[in-house]
Amino acid sequence: MKENKMTNYSTVSAMDFTISPFMRKDNWDKVQNFKAKPDDIVVATYPKAGTTWMCYLLDLLYFHRTCPEREKSVPIYDRVPFLELVCSPYPTGTDKADSLPTSPRIIKTHLPVQFLPKSFWEQNCRIVYVARNAKDNVVSYFHFDRMEKIQPEPGDWDSFLERFKDGKMVFGSWYDHVCGWWEKKQTSSKIHYMFYEDLVEDTGRELENLCSFLGLSPLEEEKKEIVRCVQFDVMKANPMTNQMDDLTLDFSVSQFLRKGKVGDWKNHFTVAQNEQFDEDYKRKMKNTSLQFREEM
Ligand code: A3P
Repeated sequence: MKENKMTNYSTVSAMDFTISPFMRKDNWDKVQNFKAKPDDIVVATYPKAGTTWMCYLLDLLYFHRTCPEREKSVPIYDRVPFLELVCSPYPTGTDKADSLPTSPRIIKTHLPVQFLPKSFWEQNCRIVYVARNAKDNVVSYFHFDRMEKIQPEPGDWDSFLERFKDGKMVFGSWYDHVCGWWEKKQTSSKIHYMFYEDLVEDTGRELENLCSFLGLSPLEEEKKEIVRCVQFDVMKANPMTNQMDDLTLDFSVSQFLRKGKVGDWKNHFTVAQNEQFDEDYKRKMKNTSLQFREEM
């Protein structure tokens, strides 16, 4: 599949989604006209920022007590539709979301803030945004693209890193994505902006904050159980969360739940790459108050 999908990224602008076979132009109107429900919960992220982690955590929060059996039988990607996904032979993300029997619906998206379908804003839906530091994010993305069978080959690490800095990625620039959602959060009480690094540092504390945002008060033992279930090793051993879709992923190349660490970028960046990245980063992020931790 992959060999036929090679794309010349140098001709692609930062917001040109047509490079992704996952997001087809002919599905775009359907995504933009998606009808949200007021109790929908949106998980918004740049790819590889901890999306699956947050989707699973939210799924447990809402459904673990009432439908524990689904934890063992329904893969997380079937419980939490990926809104803009088009990937034959699977139903589209919007069709999946429309047919979800549960309430609330938890819906995942990688769309930059300006492309979130307007109905989510009109319905005042709650949105959980998870951001991850750029260096670990790009490393995780590189390994994912190596194992991912449908999107174009990532090329070597050097060129992948340059493309990431240039924002020539399927969902556009990381810098625009994290800053765009951050700016929106300053004026919207409906966005809860979280950091991957905080989740690693203290999942229990982050779960508490999330519950306050969502207006939920689970029992102490329920929270403990959720924190246990979402630990990296537990999720890795769980076939419902360590994505098992071998139609699109090649597990002989890499793992979906790969390392789950803060600071793995140090094993990939050369000293020169790091210096150049930092310089470029300073320029691109000079107008935002958004701060990340690259190590802990
Ligand atoms: P790594 O490749 O650095 O290991 P997404 O779900 O957005 O695709 O993000 C995937 C990244 O989140 C992967 O990062 C994966 O290992 C990490 N991740 C998923 N679940 C995690 C958990 N419970 N704890 C820590 N990291 C987790």
